[in-house]
Amino acid sequence: MAHHNQQSQALLDVSGLKIHFFTGAGVVQAIDGVEFGLESGETLGLVGESGSGKTISSLALLKLVPRPGKILGGHIRFENDDLIDKSEAEMIRIRGKRIAMIFQNPAFSLNPIYTIGQQLGEIMMWHEKINRGEANDRVTEMLNLVGITDPASRLKQFPHELSGGMKQRVCIARALLCKPLLVLADEPTTNLDVTIQAQILELLSDLKTRFNMAMILVTHDLGVVANMADRITVMYAGRICETATAERIFNNPQHPYTRALLSTIPRVDKSYTNIQSKRLTVVPGRIPNLIHPPTGCRFHPRCVEANGECSRTQPELKTVEEGHVVSCLKR
Ligand SMILES: Nc1ncnc2c1ncn2[C@@H]1O[C@H](COP(=O)(O)OP(=O)(O)O)[C@@H](O)[C@H]1O
Ligand SMILES: [Mg+2]
Repeated sequence: MAHHNQQSQALLDVSGLKIHFFTGAGVVQAIDGVEFGLESGETLGLVGESGSGKTISSLALLKLVPRPGKILGGHIRFENDDLIDKSEAEMIRIRGKRIAMIFQNPAFSLNPIYTIGQQLGEIMMWHEKINRGEANDRVTEMLNLVGITDPASRLKQFPHELSGGMKQRVCIARALLCKPLLVLADEPTTNLDVTIQAQILELLSDLKTRFNMAMILVTHDLGVVANMADRITVMYAGRICETATAERIFNNPQHPYTRALLSTIPRVDKSYTNIQSKRLTVVPGRIPNLIHPPTGCRFHPRCVEANGECSRTQPELKTVEEGHVVSCLKR
């Protein structure tokens, strides 16, 4: 990608990603030319309202787009390979080993009929070719690292015996077992109690540094990524609006959608307190139906700056400053 520093090799570089869902009601143009990427050890915040395509984009990196969805085009370059060209047999060796995912709902992502030790141990035995005893040791060690007390006895427990926060810790342990290069965390705290959310985010942040992993932190809440992301990509209705460093997204946002999202955050830092009086709780309007997406810029029906041209011409991603790209005709 043009906005990547040429000297440092990108770990992941997604470009031109296009995914449609072929439903009975019509073709849902869910992801339309999405691009983002990150370097080793970096954290990218992938942000947008519900329905903007964050989960589907993340699943695409693992080639796990659910039916009736289909990846129609694009490249997913990861460590010099294009995952688009990989077979299912090859992807099985990448999932959980080189790229791992933490899902929004820990209850659904653990298998209810196996113990924690059984299901996490399987992953280690398969990827690392080790025996059950060694796997149990490694799982116990990882459970300890994610802050689970008495980890050896937890191996024998079933998911339903754990609280929501504990389940998410187990899911984090599972994702990190093989020390992946990249972790995808899809709204990892959205379904947890507010008091536990901060703990889980702090844990992710600590472990990411400890294992020197890259992370894509997916969230609908810009406030969540404010302190964690190096860079932020803002998505809307299956397209990229803006990518920049977190600092620039908060202090010099360019896309009207980014600005609208920022105005919905209760409080980010001191520099944002002066807009409190005008604060909204949600961006006015609704995300469009992607069977018949708006022409031109997909955000134009909700945009405070839109004019006639915005409904006719699809904006390209433009570099406004090194490392800062925006898709808006007005920029
Ligand atoms: N199973 C499905 N069938 C049809 N459309 C889908 C399906 N899953 C996702 N989509 C489409 O993809 C869009 C993006 O979904 P998703 O990635 O889950 O959004 P986000 O994670 O940002 O909330 C949805 O708005 C919807 O239009
Ligand atoms: Mg989602």
